[in-house]
Amino acid sequence: MRIGTPKETAGETRVAVTPETAKKFAALGAEVVVTRGAGLESGFPDADYAAAGATLVDQAEALGADVVLKVRRPSADEVAALKSGALVVAIQDPYGHIPDIEALAKAGVAAFAMELMPRITRAQVMDVLSSQANLAGYRAVIDGAGEYGRALPMMMTPAGTVPAARAFIMGVGVAGLQAIATARRLGAIVTATDVRPATKEQVESLGAKFVAVEDDEFKQAETAGGYAKEMSDAYKAKQAALVASHIAKQDIVITTALIPGRPAPKLVTAAMVASMRAGSVIVDLAVERGGNCELAKAGELVTSDNGVRIVGYSDVRRLASTASSLYARNLYAFVETLIDKTDKKLAVKWDDELVKATLLTRDGAVTHPNFQPK
Ligand code: NAI
Repeated sequence: MRIGTPKETAGETRVAVTPETAKKFAALGAEVVVTRGAGLESGFPDADYAAAGATLVDQAEALGADVVLKVRRPSADEVAALKSGALVVAIQDPYGHIPDIEALAKAGVAAFAMELMPRITRAQVMDVLSSQANLAGYRAVIDGAGEYGRALPMMMTPAGTVPAARAFIMGVGVAGLQAIATARRLGAIVTATDVRPATKEQVESLGAKFVAVEDDEFKQAETAGGYAKEMSDAYKAKQAALVASHIAKQDIVITTALIPGRPAPKLVTAAMVASMRAGSVIVDLAVERGGNCELAKAGELVTSDNGVRIVGYSDVRRLASTASSLYARNLYAFVETLIDKTDKKLAVKWDDELVKATLLTRDGAVTHPNFQPK
């Protein structure tokens, strides 16, 4: 049983296997092969992989393994190097990319999408959405503080008092909670909003103030799965009025609001940005799903006419070492369940609920009901 990790391409700086998990896979009886330089951008040199028992190989050899572990869905070139019958585990981003999923099926591989892992207790250790969103929330505050030309904590100095910055976190899921905690640690005065009632207590327990339209619709806004619903136009209008008066007084706004399978809700309009003072910062973590702020652009820093900086870096590539360490542990926890520890061989239980929920392709076909070719 050969487990391979290629070097990621297309600007991805993370790596799917770290020296720590390479050692654990080797202990399970796997032969671990890693592309030379695969971990460099995440701070893991080849020598550390070798010391962990892995063999450094070229890219084609890593892609030709029995189990290929990646961060992102393989590109067309990478798919061509995969071995028929191999398992390929990655963040596959299948929504809107059905032809790429079909290409994986045609290559004869069993492709697993880690982001489809059910959010049940047994799978918490495999939850890549949480491990990466938590870091994105932290990084958003660091980015916001970096762009903000003033200090965050209140400071009493001989030259006078510096007021504390006001931070407003919109969307209190995994990323938002970490953003609240990080902004508090840096000394900001933090408020937060969400449409799910359960978040009110979470916000308050982190020492922040909850700001939301708490009407009857709000009381029903959480789905059985724990996610937000798309809100009615009437609710959106009330929410916009509340946000408009609150946001004008904020220095740093971090938006993280998402609705599964839908574009990100637009929560910050151009008029709201125009009401903020020069030098304020908005960090839009929802930018790759259409953005919560009307003016945000993916991968860019935009400055509005009135001098508000809008940060559109939504990824954890600039936190590659920590992000890789946690992602690699998520992967290890899942892949370990696909291995028979006595025989030291692959033994996928195809009817296991975690396998069924994440499996996209097998035996030449797209197997996942949500991603069937038209
Ligand atoms: P997400 O990334 O889908 O959305 C982020 C936040 O945006 C959510 O809190 C959502 O309510 C909020 N939002 C959506 N529309 C909004 C609007 N119009 N205005 C303001 N806020 C809006 O959420 P994430 O981080 O994936 O968490 C979703 C749920 O899953 C949470 O209840 C979380 O506690 C739960 N969860 C459960 C886990 C487990 O059981 N293993 C692990 C991680 C999260």
